[in-house]
Amino acid sequence: MAYQWWQGAVVYRIYVRSFQDSNGDGVGDLMGLISRLGYVENLGVDAIWLTPVFDSPNFDFGFDVSDFLTVQKELGTLSDFDLLIEEAHKRGIKVIVDLLLNHTSIEHPWFIQSRSSTEGEYAGYYIWSDEIPNNWIAAFGGKAWTLDSVRGQYYMHSFFRQQPDLNWRNPKVVDELFAVTRFWLDRGIDGVRLDVINSIAKDETLRSNPKVLGTRSRVYDRQRHIFDRNRPESYTRVRQVRRLVDEYDDRVLIGEIMAEFPGEPELAASYLGQKGDQLNLSLDSSLANARFSAPSWKRVAKRWYEATGRLRDPGWVLNSHELSRFSTRVKGDQDKMKLAALFLMTQRGTIFIYYGEELGLPDSVVWPKEMKDPLGKRFWPFMKSRDVSRGPMVWSTGPGNWFTSGESWLPFTKSANFYSVENQALEKDSMLTFYRTIIALRSDDLVLQMGHCHFMECKNSNVLIYTRSSEDGRRMVILNMSKRVQTCSLADVLEREEAVALRLFSTHIDGRAKETGEDDVELVPWQGSVYDLVDQRRKSRSS
Ligand code: NOJ
Repeated sequence: MAYQWWQGAVVYRIYVRSFQDSNGDGVGDLMGLISRLGYVENLGVDAIWLTPVFDSPNFDFGFDVSDFLTVQKELGTLSDFDLLIEEAHKRGIKVIVDLLLNHTSIEHPWFIQSRSSTEGEYAGYYIWSDEIPNNWIAAFGGKAWTLDSVRGQYYMHSFFRQQPDLNWRNPKVVDELFAVTRFWLDRGIDGVRLDVINSIAKDETLRSNPKVLGTRSRVYDRQRHIFDRNRPESYTRVRQVRRLVDEYDDRVLIGEIMAEFPGEPELAASYLGQKGDQLNLSLDSSLANARFSAPSWKRVAKRWYEATGRLRDPGWVLNSHELSRFSTRVKGDQDKMKLAALFLMTQRGTIFIYYGEELGLPDSVVWPKEMKDPLGKRFWPFMKSRDVSRGPMVWSTGPGNWFTSGESWLPFTKSANFYSVENQALEKDSMLTFYRTIIALRSDDLVLQMGHCHFMECKNSNVLIYTRSSEDGRRMVILNMSKRVQTCSLADVLEREEAVALRLFSTHIDGRAKETGEDDVELVPWQGSVYDLVDQRRKSRSS
């Protein structure tokens, strides 16, 4: 079967400001990133996905765009961007960019003109009202409406007041945003990730959201977001963006779906379209928010597979620029991280890893005086700032860890040297070596990439067993998600599959899981193994 390049791919997400600085100003940039493409290539990933690079006053670090058609000075220039595409493509790496079509910065010329008058070309580019028309709350706190002193009206913002929402009911706005999308596609990018794409259309008459019964700590969560998110028009618009993207060959359309905590796989899947005519991939955070245990990961994964169905692909995420890093969530336990990574690399669909995840990088400790994230500043100490997962990449044990020759814009993680690429690159058992190995395992195996996933019933609730199957073959994955030795019987599975199991890979080379999966398998704590299921029927027929 022929697949699109992103089906089964591993995508490496890069927070550009924190990846590699080339000019000593302490901020990562495009030239720095270009100089690290060799590393990315060696990691074995198929694509990089960049955080927003457009011009921005950096109130929300690129998520507040003041010019969609230029690159932010701190990050480089348009020609640097073109060079990045060229160099990445030379190495066989695809490039995906973050596009923000829901809102701009208040410093965007469209907003500056829109606020200046209730009449004229730009007056209807944003959502304005004489009075606060409803109970909508901004996701980052406070009301979703702010009075603009110049225009004398309220404008709507789903996030900070510095990020006014665009009016997708205005055809001119839609044309502008489609032109922006084309501008980047024409430059040769291989795909876009649309920020909060289910928020773009608001209720036509701006009705109030109904209240949620029960208590919720965040005011934003005390209402059901049915009038400020997921309007039917959002789906229509996403379908249009997809048509536009499909005019270009081999481009992928990915979307971030704002959802209730801990995630809403069915909602995320709904944006793939019944006929697969909306997003190619949507992101859901259920796995990242789930407890690390066999029953809960199985539940989450099954739900995601059920929501996407056999014909549409799930995308898998464990880390992001919003969440505390998985390494910190499991208190730096390397065995757990390796097992989690093996789970990811043996799922069907597209796997997203976040820079530093392959090093097992924990959160940076960011004190209030060092904080950059506006959300962190607003809610500290009640929530961790998002800066913690945006710390600089740790390349070496040298000064500035070779991220920068100046002073880094955010602090490094503690014990940075230990995690450095330099330290890990040649070490047999390091996290980096492990990631390289399992990414290669996946890349070489169409069954692991795209084979159907079937979770087996297992009497031992600490163990996850699933099979992957396609016309290219069958695999079986067994994960001991506990700190104790576990045994489980494979007799039923092997009988059902009419196969013998040959171990292809294991997290614990010296573990006591047998090379063949006959009889009972014994797994040391946090051991995960991948088996080839060799068809007995075919074998006996041919012998
Ligand atoms: C969603 C992004 O993931 C987040 O980082 C950003 O702050 C908001 N959109 C607002 O742009």
